[in-house]
Amino acid sequence: MRNFICSWLLICLTLAAAFPQTPGRKTRAVTVAQETERRVDELLARMTLEEKFGQMNQRFSPRNKDEENNLKSQAEMRQLIKSGRIGSLISVTGAPECNELQRIAVEESRLKIPLLFAYDVIHGYRTTFPVPLAMAASWDAETIRRASSVAATEASADGLHWTFAPMLDIGRDGRWGRIVEGFGEDPYLTSVLGAAAVRGFQKDDLSDSTALIACPKHFAGYGAAEGGRDYNSTEISEHTLRNVYLPPFRAAAGAGAGTVMTAFNDLNGTPATANNFLFRQILKSEWAFDGFVVSDANAIAELINHGYSADSAEAAQVSLLAGVDMDMQSSVYLNQLGRAVREKRVSERVIDDAVRRVLRLKFRKGLFERPYADEKLVARVMLSPENLETAREAARKSLVLLKNENSLLPLKKDMARLAVVGPYADSRELHGSWRAKGDPQNVVTVLSGIKSKISNRTELKTGVNIAESVAAAKDSDAVIIVIGEDARDTGEGGSLSTIELQRKQGIDQEELVRAVQAIGKPTVVVLVSGRPLAIPWIAQNIPAILLGWHSGLQGGNAIADALFGDYNPGGKLPVTFPRSTGQIPIYYNHKNTGRPPKEDKRNTSKYLDIPATPLFPFGYGLSYTRFAYDNLRLGAARIELGGSLKVSLQVKNIGERAGDEVVQLYIRDVAASVTRPVKELKGFSRVRLSPGEKKTVEFTLTPELLGFYNREMRFAVELGKFKVWVGTDSAGGLEGEFEVVAAPARNALRKR
Ligand code: GLC
Repeated sequence: MRNFICSWLLICLTLAAAFPQTPGRKTRAVTVAQETERRVDELLARMTLEEKFGQMNQRFSPRNKDEENNLKSQAEMRQLIKSGRIGSLISVTGAPECNELQRIAVEESRLKIPLLFAYDVIHGYRTTFPVPLAMAASWDAETIRRASSVAATEASADGLHWTFAPMLDIGRDGRWGRIVEGFGEDPYLTSVLGAAAVRGFQKDDLSDSTALIACPKHFAGYGAAEGGRDYNSTEISEHTLRNVYLPPFRAAAGAGAGTVMTAFNDLNGTPATANNFLFRQILKSEWAFDGFVVSDANAIAELINHGYSADSAEAAQVSLLAGVDMDMQSSVYLNQLGRAVREKRVSERVIDDAVRRVLRLKFRKGLFERPYADEKLVARVMLSPENLETAREAARKSLVLLKNENSLLPLKKDMARLAVVGPYADSRELHGSWRAKGDPQNVVTVLSGIKSKISNRTELKTGVNIAESVAAAKDSDAVIIVIGEDARDTGEGGSLSTIELQRKQGIDQEELVRAVQAIGKPTVVVLVSGRPLAIPWIAQNIPAILLGWHSGLQGGNAIADALFGDYNPGGKLPVTFPRSTGQIPIYYNHKNTGRPPKEDKRNTSKYLDIPATPLFPFGYGLSYTRFAYDNLRLGAARIELGGSLKVSLQVKNIGERAGDEVVQLYIRDVAASVTRPVKELKGFSRVRLSPGEKKTVEFTLTPELLGFYNREMRFAVELGKFKVWVGTDSAGGLEGEFEVVAAPARNALRKR
């Protein structure tokens, strides 16, 4: 009997431990959420209409004088804050400055509603990380999460609460300057990295004083701007919208992003900023998004330019009804919504929904309890050694080795004579576009990184223009040529008509490479860019090419780490590198067409004057070691509808150096109710392998990964054959196939 009682007691104690009676994390979260809603409703009930419009109004601080519609003076800004007619400010930075303005809102306004301070913290704040497209080349979610977390810690120490990032626009056109700001051409990679960025910025809880509210942007389809010309119109079918452009935003919303920003572009005739389908139907209804939507800068007023609104009154009405909750910079909401309510063109209920969403975020951010920034934090947070090391590691992981004939790289650190030449050898352009408060003076240039790496006995020759570079090359045993593009030729408004190398300081960069290569010394090219560049001659004639990107403050050190073997590059391209501008658009997850390209057949889908393949494909990147793939195993030859499939393989380091390999899993739905891409990335894993080490890598293909929006515009997995590839890039890999079959009818079992 005693034993029975003991064991029963043990079972009870075990169960009690497993299911504690005190409210668990989930219960607590529900209580907090309920309390937040109560506080929102209580505050909303006390607000005048004017004060409600104030919460929907965001302005740039007067310092951004180049912004149209900007506040004319500090006095005007203070007055608007005091009267409760501004809910958020952009570009006010510095804890003292933010606190001073916050004090007006919290201590002098009638309802004491705190301000949200926002800024574009895209790839770092003071510690500038590689540009997002470069960090995507790491194919490492933890790298992006950590970089975003550091950025949030630095920015929040400067008084900021909200960043306009991550940018999740799918970019398939290198002419588009903002391809730099996203994570490339693939929906799955962008989804995984975008969710990681949101978690990094927002930390475990938005009320953490070091967290930033994230703002996935630009919703939606901005990257499909016709001709790669920024702000241009887009025509995107609903299938392509739902299967390509929206999934990253769905993933970011799923990661808890607090806000979303509208896109400038006209989407199929309805500008995104007035697009009911995007915001009311998809974001707020289908996805049940409970944060708020902010317009892009002046985008509500620009509905007039679009020819979609006749005047500001109409622009205010259509944006609000479409689900845009806050007006960035145009003041159209503040100036026009009062009349719209009086004329019953919008109801106060719609206004209240917008204001509720804004207040909800302010409560979630903890601003009512802790409106002021800690002014002592800055000194110990900004540019800390740990932050700089994190930036260096992110830059290393972003590097992509494009070519390395006869293992020319890595170079020896103690060679007698080395030339480092080209217009970007000692350039600070590595900070990239959208550098927030990053100071270019803090950039470690490629030359600086190399100087701190090589032996002090090495005779270093440098040169910028062609003559200097040729002379330096003649007197050296090896040459490193650093070419690329300026940060200002990328980013917003940074679209180019060509992705061939631009002249820099009057120097024809390709001509410089040709002239130096002709000297006949071992030659390495380092490319520092924020977009794919078309470099066919260089790719053909230069034995070693390292893509260093605009890799932030520590870029020069990271690039030198790789050039001299202290780091083995393992990055992979997040975007296809075309052979020429004319080959655009070219991306790996394209449709097959009825006449897929065949080099030896005229009437197939290709150009006559260049191969149908890109210069370097999506997912491509080499290493100083080599990896062998084998033993691809599929868990079954067929799975029932709704089932999942395990895929495994072995990857082995067959070289002499340790290195990272990004193992990639692709599928193809061979025949479906709408045409499907020839390949789609559905899994990846960056694994580190010592020489001779072998690892088994496993993936699970779930219905979520196999499904797509089909002919009926329903997300579904369809019956039929699927192909699977696992490999080192999107161009090849071990191939397998499986079939999705109907599940046996359940009632058939009952009959038996
Ligand atoms: C810009 C950009 C947007 C940015 C905003 C605030 O026009 O399109 O990405 O967040 O204005 O600077």
